[in-house]
Amino acid sequence: MNIAVIGTGYVGLVSGTCFAEMGNMVICVDNNPEKLKKLQDAELTIYEPGLELLFLRNIAKKRLIFSPNLQEAVIKSDIIFLCLPTPQGEDGSADLQYVLSVAKEIGIILKSDDDKNFKIIVNKSTVPVGTAKKVENIISSSNVNNFAVVSNPEFLREGFAVEDFMKPDRIIIGTDNTAAMSKMKALYEPFVRQGNPILEMDTASSEVTKYASNSYLALRITYMNELANFCENVGANIDMIRKGMGTDSRIGKRFLFAGIGYGGSCFPKDVKALIKTSVDFNSEIKILNTVDNVNKQQKTIIVKKLLKYFQNNIKDKHFAIWGLAFKPNTDDMREAPSLIVIDELLKNGVTISAYDPAANETAKFYLKEKIKYALDEYDALENADALLILTEWNEFRNPDFEVLRAKLKNKVIFDGRNIFEPQKMRELNFTYFSIGRLPVFSS
Ligand SMILES: NC(=O)c1ccc[n+]([C@@H]2O[C@H](COP(=O)([O-])OP(=O)(O)OC[C@H]3O[C@@H](n4cnc5c(N)ncnc54)[C@H](O)[C@@H]3O)[C@@H](O)[C@H]2O)c1
Repeated sequence: MNIAVIGTGYVGLVSGTCFAEMGNMVICVDNNPEKLKKLQDAELTIYEPGLELLFLRNIAKKRLIFSPNLQEAVIKSDIIFLCLPTPQGEDGSADLQYVLSVAKEIGIILKSDDDKNFKIIVNKSTVPVGTAKKVENIISSSNVNNFAVVSNPEFLREGFAVEDFMKPDRIIIGTDNTAAMSKMKALYEPFVRQGNPILEMDTASSEVTKYASNSYLALRITYMNELANFCENVGANIDMIRKGMGTDSRIGKRFLFAGIGYGGSCFPKDVKALIKTSVDFNSEIKILNTVDNVNKQQKTIIVKKLLKYFQNNIKDKHFAIWGLAFKPNTDDMREAPSLIVIDELLKNGVTISAYDPAANETAKFYLKEKIKYALDEYDALENADALLILTEWNEFRNPDFEVLRAKLKNKVIFDGRNIFEPQKMRELNFTYFSIGRLPVFSS
């Protein structure tokens, strides 16, 4: 099939590459010239495990092309995926300006298209209920009619994006147009050969499913975080409780890890957008307000522990940070808890040396020269008064504790992701604070 992908960020680049891998001809369009230049030079613009191999292979096979030309991409393609940003607007709603302006352009292009072949325009961006109808109306307003708008939300996780896209748990296709449905199913069949379902539904249900899923996962994490704070006050251990809960098949093991709050480009904005839509439709989903508020507080919990330990006197102290990305296996810093933690610490007059295996460069865009970027995890430790762990990268899990001991001025660790066992920290004689478990004090 001939496919256009409009917007070549995390979702667009992964989707375009994976569609090409299945033998489709894919033109990826972006309006960011720097990004486009890199992609045209066969240079990846994001860190995503497993992506480079597929990306290079499909460029070499000429199935994956990068272009600034929306018109050519739309005219040459049967299916046009919108993978555009839907950032948080000022009132919490999803800002649809990118999606709607591209829809307008597509309408104008289709009107001028002499062939007038049937086109499928697919919303892969996360968009509020009713957006497919809006996109349809905008395109129709150019006096075009041989098209259908489909909702096809994306569920990939950054860090596992290729794996998730190639073997999705399910594909959701929202449309009442039978021709569009059958073409979309044909496109996705190769991705679900193991039997995972393609769920057919109306556009409204499809649009809501995406927000409902992300908000539920945010809620689960937040529940565990609040429970963790409770555990510290009653002397219980959140890890034991997580295991006790997760082995119940009704609950399941995933998304039960306590920490310093969720971040990223999706959960925070999607929770807020669902709250806003629910208010707009006079049926507020109240529980999500609590999720959003608790998560905000959770991002600063590690700073509160640190201030308490240093008796509110951290001016001129120096701290090491391991992990900047909002989660491991990505370089994405959007809404990363590390940004809040660093901001709070800097307000108190400290200096910081930080290391992230993938996000050091992305972090510079947000934090500029406010912190020092270390060459590796051990370099970050030099002369630090304490270590803070903010992202649970696997490579931090089993460090050389002798080096930690030698380089850290005080043997104090604030672990916002519970990557170490308190018992081990006790044996190694570190002072150790984590989330939802009692602190350990060195002797
Ligand atoms: N990142 C994720 O993990 C993820 C997962 C599922 C769904 N989503 C949703 O997918 C959508 C895209 O997210 P993302 O993380 O890929 O965003 P992104 O910001 O990484 O990428 C968006 C791309 O669109 C480009 N763009 C903006 N306006 C354009 C225009 N007029 N023409 C062409 N290109 C244009 C930008 O330059 C950018 O490259 C959002 O709605 C997001 O909520 C994201």
